[in-house]
Amino acid sequence: MNSSSTLGPGRTALITGASRGIGVLIAREVAKEGGHVVLTGRSSADLRAVASELAASGADVSWLSADLAEPGAAEALAGEVERQHGGIDLLVNNAGGDPLREFHVMTIEENLRTLRLNLVVPVTLSHAVLGGMLSRRRGQIVNISAMAGRVSFPYTEVYAAAKDGLIGFTRVLRSDYRARGVSASVIILGAIRGTGQGQRMLDEAGMKASGFMTPAESVARAVVKAVRKDKAELVVMPGPARLLRAVMDYFPGLGPAMNRAAGANASMQKIIELREAKAQPAA
Ligand SMILES: NC(=O)c1ccc[n+]([C@@H]2O[C@H](COP(=O)([O-])OP(=O)(O)OC[C@H]3O[C@@H](n4cnc5c(N)ncnc54)[C@H](OP(=O)(O)O)[C@@H]3O)[C@@H](O)[C@H]2O)c1
Repeated sequence: MNSSSTLGPGRTALITGASRGIGVLIAREVAKEGGHVVLTGRSSADLRAVASELAASGADVSWLSADLAEPGAAEALAGEVERQHGGIDLLVNNAGGDPLREFHVMTIEENLRTLRLNLVVPVTLSHAVLGGMLSRRRGQIVNISAMAGRVSFPYTEVYAAAKDGLIGFTRVLRSDYRARGVSASVIILGAIRGTGQGQRMLDEAGMKASGFMTPAESVARAVVKAVRKDKAELVVMPGPARLLRAVMDYFPGLGPAMNRAAGANASMQKIIELREAKAQPAA
C-alpha cells in the first residue's frame, strides 16, 4: 500500500446504504481489502446484522445509523466517523433509490425527497469529508449513479435527473481535487439482479430477471476496481457498456425505443400500478 492508497490496512471507508441491497456487497468487497469499514443506513437492526456477518468473516467493521434525508444528518454522520476513526479515506455514496411512482401523481415534496436522497445527500457528504481528505492529501469519493437518465427509463424523471447530476458532480470534483490528492469516481449502473431495488421490483411483480441485468457482485467489484485503479467512470451493464452509453447520448430516441422493444414500459406500468395501489389508503 502506498501512502496515498485509500483502501487497505490503516484506512477507513464509509459506505452509505449498507444495511441492505447492493451496499452490503460493496461493504463486503471493500472489507476484504483490509482497513476499517463503517456501514450506514436507517435500519439499526439491518446494520447490526450486516456488521455481524462481515465481522464473522474477519472484517474490521462498525455501523452508525442515520436518516441521511434529514437536514444536518449527513454532516453529523461524517463528523462522528471522523471523531471515532481519525478520518475518512474512502466515501462510497451508495444510498439511493426511486419510489417508482408517476411523477405527476407524487407530490412535489415526494419528488424532491428523491432528489435529496440521490443527489443532495452525496454532495453534502462529499463536502463534509473533503476538508479532512485535503488536509491528509488522501481520499477518494465513489458515487453510485444509474443509466436511468441516459436510457429514459420509464417513470424515473427525478431519479434520472439526480443520477445524471451525480455524474457531472463527480467529473468536476475529480478534475478540481485530484492534483491535491483527493479523487472521485462514478459507477453507472444498468439494471442489477440478485439484490437491491431492481430485484425487489421483479419479485413484487412476479417477474424473472432478464439478460439485460448484471449480478450485484459486479457492482461491488467495480467499486474496488475504481478505487484501486483510480478510474473516472465505470459502467456496469452487459455488453460494450461505455460505448452503449455514448451511443444513447448520440441518439436520444434509442433508449425509449429499446425500452419499448425490451418490454420495460409494460413491466414498469405493471409495477407502478402495484405501487399506486399500495400507496392508496385502504377504503
Ligand atoms: N438495483 C438496481 O437495479 C440499481 C440500478 C441502478 C442504480 N442503482 C443504485 O444503486 C444504489 C443501491 O441501490 P439498491 O438497489 O441496493 O437499493 P436498496 O436495496 O433499496 O438499498 C438502498 C439503501 O439505501 C439506504 N437508504 C435509503 N434511504 C435512506 C435514507 N433516507 N437515509 C439513509 N440511508 C437510506 C437503505 O437503507 P435503510 O432502508 O436502512 O435506510 C439501503 O441500505 C442506489 O444508489 C441506487 O440508485 C441500483
